[in-house]
Amino acid sequence: MKIFITRNIPDRGIKLLQERGHEVTVSSEDRVLTKEELIAKLKAGGYDAVLCLLTDKIDADVMDAAGKQVKIFANYAVGFDNVDIKAAAERAIFVTNTPGVLTNSVAEFAFALILAIAHRIPEADRFSRAGKYQGWEPELLLGQEISGKTLGIVGLGRIGSRVAFHARGFEMPTLYYDVVRNEAFEKESGAVFSANVDDVLREADIVSIHVPLLPTTKHLINAERLALMKPTAYLVNTSRGPVVDEAALLDALRAKRIRGAALDVWEFEPKLTPGLTELDTVILTPHIASATDQARQEMSRIAAENIIAALEGKTPPNIVKG
Ligand code: GLV
Ligand code: GLV
Repeated sequence: MKIFITRNIPDRGIKLLQERGHEVTVSSEDRVLTKEELIAKLKAGGYDAVLCLLTDKIDADVMDAAGKQVKIFANYAVGFDNVDIKAAAERAIFVTNTPGVLTNSVAEFAFALILAIAHRIPEADRFSRAGKYQGWEPELLLGQEISGKTLGIVGLGRIGSRVAFHARGFEMPTLYYDVVRNEAFEKESGAVFSANVDDVLREADIVSIHVPLLPTTKHLINAERLALMKPTAYLVNTSRGPVVDEAALLDALRAKRIRGAALDVWEFEPKLTPGLTELDTVILTPHIASATDQARQEMSRIAAENIIAALEGKTPPNIVKG
């Protein structure tokens, strides 16, 4: 059968699809396709399955352009806010994601950001490269220790719980907020549940965000909630940019209402809210938390396995629901 991949990806999954005898077409442009381009390619192709990226907006128009034979849009991501799940359900099209295989990568990256912002590592690197180092100084680039500090996890899914697991190595008391309480996790980890996200923001020294982007989580971290945070606290976001009101965050950082922020995801990706780059109290990385060889190859495999199942008339293992 015919499969379209909207942009080149690591090859593990592509090989799997080809080994099954499927005809795989990878978009010839190595960039994000516009909606018009995507629609044109899908209309022309008559594909049975589409492997799409988080940078592709998959809405009803795109699904209709793909045609009635299309069985699945396999999203190459764990997040799936780029896909209109309701429109897919109405058309009996499967939508799948790639959970699990990027959990280590993203949780490690979140922890790397926590350490990097607290120890001012990117700032120190900029300082060194600029030739500013004149010799050891007692008060050069003083950072903060994270050992024993309170970690606040907002969203205790696979990734959030993995970050909480790493925090145990630093003996960090951990609070978490989620719409679902996980008492088994509390027993095993010692983490404390909070039914209210505000309490986590008030008490944590480091807040790490791991919620999906939903209408209910858009701007979950807004001006009022930033105002609850300690002036010494850090905010780390590896989930989706729009969960944080970036203008409000910029104000809070400028006014030193919080100590710093590390953002792997931005509200208006790939654009940054002007002003953020001027602040040394911010670390900015370009949505690379899952960017390890291991995770990206495994995401390729999982996306392919979902497609293979759908094309064999089976239920794909990683169906997502709205
Ligand atoms: C990356 O952001 C993903 O959702 O996999
Ligand atoms: C995503 O993988 C999550 O459950 O955090």
